[in-house]
Amino acid sequence: MNDLQFKRHRRLRRTESMRSLVRETHLRKEDLIYPIFVVEGEGIKSPVESMPGVHHVSLDYLSEEMTELEQLGVRSVIVFGVPKEKDAVGTQAFHSEGIVQQAIRHINKHHSSLTVIADTCLCQYTDHGHCGVIRDGDIANDESLEYITKTAVSQAEAGADVIAPSNMMDGFVAAIRRGLDEAGYSQIPVMSYAVKYASAFYGPFRDAAHSTPQFGDRRAYQMDPANRMEAIREAESDVEEGADFLIVKPALSYLDIMREVKDRFKLPIVAYNVSGEYSMVKAAAQNGWVNEQEIVLEKLTSMKRAGADLIITYFAKDVARYLER
Ligand code: PBG
Ligand code: ZN
Repeated sequence: MNDLQFKRHRRLRRTESMRSLVRETHLRKEDLIYPIFVVEGEGIKSPVESMPGVHHVSLDYLSEEMTELEQLGVRSVIVFGVPKEKDAVGTQAFHSEGIVQQAIRHINKHHSSLTVIADTCLCQYTDHGHCGVIRDGDIANDESLEYITKTAVSQAEAGADVIAPSNMMDGFVAAIRRGLDEAGYSQIPVMSYAVKYASAFYGPFRDAAHSTPQFGDRRAYQMDPANRMEAIREAESDVEEGADFLIVKPALSYLDIMREVKDRFKLPIVAYNVSGEYSMVKAAAQNGWVNEQEIVLEKLTSMKRAGADLIITYFAKDVARYLER
């Protein structure tokens, strides 16, 4: 036995204190960004059926939710508005009294320690449910940019700390950057949904945001899940256009892309742990088929190991509680 040559990897796995000495990846509360869905009306805190634990809240319930985050040590939120009125160009997306603008002002005023990230898109606000405007049956790229830029500027005016455009039109980072600069918001960073795949994992979100396209799908602007080089082209153009953060979305089926984007571009990388990835865990846990806490920590750790600096996740509150212990 003594002349047998092999490595003893298990030496470093013997005890929890030894394992924690050599642990390479760490989840921190500061890494977490919590998505919220704000609706018009009063006294509303209603569960989103497809996403157990997630609610639609009206402005008067926003403080309760924000205070909970502050107490848990989650420091950033990304805000999605669910408006009452929709039209062809998504007017409520860039209205100064739109639901998102009101929510941003509210959080800024009453919870100033939180970083408010505004999701910038039209799909919750258009009657057809697409992320741009439609001309001759097509999503018109350059015309959409005008509405998207207006939306970003109105969110900055309301006090958003970060603008996060998710629409996947070509040139959206350049258009928004110029719009923000011209309006005097050169200090507001752009967190670009640079690499966004046309994914079935968004199903539960479209329920929550009431943003299912009324015809067709999003494959003419979101990316084909089969493509890797295309992700690099997308990220590259956003970096050239002045993006400050790059989002890869969804997260779990795209960890290879996350690693590649992290290695190539020297910007903070954000994983979007999307609704389907959330609801699948919740459903399995409710059935007793998986250990929710262990599975959530394992998934989020894998995103960081793949190169994510930050994680947008509906699990943010749960994870903050796990990390407390
Ligand atoms: C819309 C948008 C989507 C998500 C964030 N912004 C969905 C879509 O493109 O249909 C997905 C979020 C999730 O699934 O958690 N621009
Ligand atoms: Zn959209």
